[in-house]
Amino acid sequence: MGKIFVDACFGKETPYTPVWMMRQAGRYLPEYMEVRAKAGDFLNLCHNPEMACEVTLQPVDILDVDAAILFSDILVIPDEMGMDLSFVKGEGPKFADPITSEDDLNRLIGGEEAASKLTYVYDTIKLIKERLADDKALIGFTGAPWTLATYMIEGQGTKTYNICKKMMYSNPELLHKILRKVTDVVKLYMEKQIQAGIDVVQIFDSWAAAIEPGKYDEFSWKYMVEIAEYLKEKYPHIPVIMFPKGIPAFLDKVYGNFDVFGVDWSTPMAFAKERLGDKYVLQGNMEPCRLYSKEATTQCVEVIQETMQGKRHIFNLGHGILPDVPVENAKHFIDECHRVSGKK
Ligand code: CP3
Repeated sequence: MGKIFVDACFGKETPYTPVWMMRQAGRYLPEYMEVRAKAGDFLNLCHNPEMACEVTLQPVDILDVDAAILFSDILVIPDEMGMDLSFVKGEGPKFADPITSEDDLNRLIGGEEAASKLTYVYDTIKLIKERLADDKALIGFTGAPWTLATYMIEGQGTKTYNICKKMMYSNPELLHKILRKVTDVVKLYMEKQIQAGIDVVQIFDSWAAAIEPGKYDEFSWKYMVEIAEYLKEKYPHIPVIMFPKGIPAFLDKVYGNFDVFGVDWSTPMAFAKERLGDKYVLQGNMEPCRLYSKEATTQCVEVIQETMQGKRHIFNLGHGILPDVPVENAKHFIDECHRVSGKK
């Protein structure tokens, strides 16, 4: 059987509109919490292909989403480049020695050597492919170089991005060298994910909105496009999804060889359709907090369906699901997407 999700990514007509949720494998699922407790901590879970495979498949079994997303994290890349990642309880990700200079950058492992260290990711993909139903797709992913660089420069999550933006305006050459080195690793990393068996690539630029619109191409989009074009040239049968979060002012300037544009919840679907709908399939975009109410969910799903009419569209949230969403509400969202788009 063909994969409806892959067909939809290429804009082909499908019997109904496929759906998945960003961050669908995670803490809102009691089954995930159980495996995570066994793993001890989050990074152990990422490093263990058997357990990572198990949590990847949970939302497919529990919610009947049309695609699984590889369980891992965007930050395993800088970790394997030598940045020593840890997750401090309640505080999120931390790097002990953020990049402050060219010497710091030069100490990091790059290219093939770094991409080759992520064997546990490739092993997880192979296991998932053995166990995932043939009609479901497996999404592999990476962070965009800019989003990865924000963590590598700040050392952790940030509200102001002041350290990386100081670099952007006062030492842009160094920021570009960091982005170059990360981009070169990401290209090979995604290529190895494809060789291990993923069906679709998604590039998450979660912190796109931190960059002023006039600088977005220079510091993020062009690197994402370079990665997409490298992959599309060698693997044209693998769809590429770009998800830059929160950049409505850039929509008229979007370019590049990729297949699906992920619309975040702050950009109205009709607005994105008008600007990009002819060129790219659109994915999205329910505000994830609507999941707290079944009525609010149904209402939004119906509006999105009316806008997209089941054409050149993939249902998703406009960003990741939060940990305190009831599982039955998540299931309601998936069921409603299937219902309005005519799944029998
Ligand atoms: O289901 C899935 O989407 C697959 C797995 C996945 C995770 N992280 C697991 C995870 C994916 C695709 C990511 C991507 C990711 N990681 C992004 C981009 C996506 C987005 O939401 O914008 C970013 C910015 C990160 C970095 C990251 N990882 C942060 C900031 C945190 C801590 C915040 C939090 O939610 O606790 C993580 C940890 C993380 N990654 C968790 C999960 C399930 C929570 C860890 C835990 O179990 O405690």
